[in-house]
Amino acid sequence: MGTSRMFRIFVVLGSAFMILLIIIYWDDVGASHLYLHTPVSPGPKIPHPPPHHHHQPQTSRTPSFLLDIDAFVNQFLEPGTGEPTDPAPADTSNQSEKAEERYVPRREWKIHLTPVAAELRERQEQRRRLLQEMCANDSVAFPGKNRSFDDIPNRELDHLIVDDRHGVIYCYVPKVACSNWKRIMIVLSESLLRDGVPQRDPLAIPRDLVHNSSMHFTFNKFWKRYGKFARHLMKVKLKKYTKFIFVRDPFVRLISAYRNKFELRNEDFYRRFAQVMLRRYANQPTPPASVDEAFGGGIHPSFSNFIQYLLDPQTEKEMPFNEHWRQVYRLCHPCQIQYDFVGHLETAEDDAEHLLRQLRVDNVVEFPTSHRNLTASTWESDWFSTLSAEARRELYKLYEPDFRLFGYDRPDSILNE
Ligand SMILES: *[C@@H]1O[C@H](CO)[C@@H](O)[C@H](O)[C@H]1NC(C)=O
Ligand SMILES: *[C@@H]1O[C@H](CO)[C@@H](O)[C@H](O)[C@H]1NC(C)=O
Ligand SMILES: *[C@@H]1O[C@H](CO)[C@@H](O)[C@H](O)[C@H]1NC(C)=O
Ligand SMILES: *[C@@H]1O[C@H](CO)[C@@H](O)[C@H](O)[C@H]1NC(C)=O
Ligand SMILES: *[C@@H]1O[C@H](CO)[C@@H](O)[C@H](O)[C@H]1NC(C)=O
Repeated sequence: MGTSRMFRIFVVLGSAFMILLIIIYWDDVGASHLYLHTPVSPGPKIPHPPPHHHHQPQTSRTPSFLLDIDAFVNQFLEPGTGEPTDPAPADTSNQSEKAEERYVPRREWKIHLTPVAAELRERQEQRRRLLQEMCANDSVAFPGKNRSFDDIPNRELDHLIVDDRHGVIYCYVPKVACSNWKRIMIVLSESLLRDGVPQRDPLAIPRDLVHNSSMHFTFNKFWKRYGKFARHLMKVKLKKYTKFIFVRDPFVRLISAYRNKFELRNEDFYRRFAQVMLRRYANQPTPPASVDEAFGGGIHPSFSNFIQYLLDPQTEKEMPFNEHWRQVYRLCHPCQIQYDFVGHLETAEDDAEHLLRQLRVDNVVEFPTSHRNLTASTWESDWFSTLSAEARRELYKLYEPDFRLFGYDRPDSILNE
């Protein structure tokens, strides 16, 4: 008798407890997706829920150790990642002891009395909006457009340079003032020491060091340093840091690449590319063995040979395009990475000034002005006149996504002849 009564009370209490547990459990699911926490995490230990209750499959699968990393990373990032217009964070005088233990990025920015010109801000707004529209528009299609960031192989992330000191990520595009921006990234990240002191003058960095990958901390090196946390850290940094890119008219970029790599003596490019072009498209079954011999005999591939090489399906079968002529969408993944700043080489000076100010480093570095003989857009029709109309149109197809993503008009005068 007594025992059956006890049993009933026990059942009622037990049910009440279960209901309570379910209520708490749902709260947790709604609030912070704690339900997949592994047993090492603090907080209620709750059995796995039925799979059909995933509200946000992306974030809900984030294991707790990654959330801890987030918190850890946030510690480093909190100061200095605000928008330039944000007020400085309140002084935390009582955290001074703690602050000494923490790595606090330097905040050494200039005071500006005038705001950034509305025209420049509007220009950035337009370029960012265009990228979003083009990424969402199915009529702009290119390989890899639809994949997620996680699906981009590590080796394709080698153009994203990270500066943790200032919270900046730069995707470099060769032939678009990339030496100058790399110099600036070296200065900002203080990766080059001279006599134990960081190099502060971008132009004093020797040319071979500028392009030496040991000078730059790129995304593809995260795996080695952070192991299985690499992808997660990349995503955290992509979210928190200011990401920028510089582009230029795709056809003018090709002319510039050709002039720089095949009109100047370059042993490496001669052996890797020019010999192939001469053999395949210039009736030279045995091209000269070295670039000096070739230049001595007045031999180098023509611009038309170079374009033939780009259009030849065989080329990409052997290996992906060299970075000097690889499409920007393949180098910088503009549909997976939401760039905060899109500079154009055609407006480089204004854009550089605007960007350095937005990054709040305009008192640390200045963008070096270039005095070199730049490839001008007005030469385009001359250069392309040596190509057949069909080759020009095929070439446009190859680079069309770059034209459209970054707002360069279809060069009708070149294509409609
Ligand atoms: C800082 O902490 C001390 C006690 O440690 C307290 O007396 C003081 O009011 C605090 N100051 C601020 C600004 O919170
Ligand atoms: C997509 O691009 C095409 C041009 O190729 C344009 O006509 C169309 O309006 C765009 N669609 C959207 C939704 O912007
Ligand atoms: C990307 O997805 C859209 C539909 O969402 C599809 O129409 C398009 O063909 C896909 N593009 C590529 C390159 O796979
Ligand atoms: C890059 O620099 C490192 C040292 O800073 C040097 O050991 C290496 O040889 C350089 N690589 C090239 C390709 O110059
Ligand atoms: C720049 O280069 C082009 C062709 O490469 C040449 O015709 C022109 O004279 C050069 N201009 C200057 C200022 O050197």
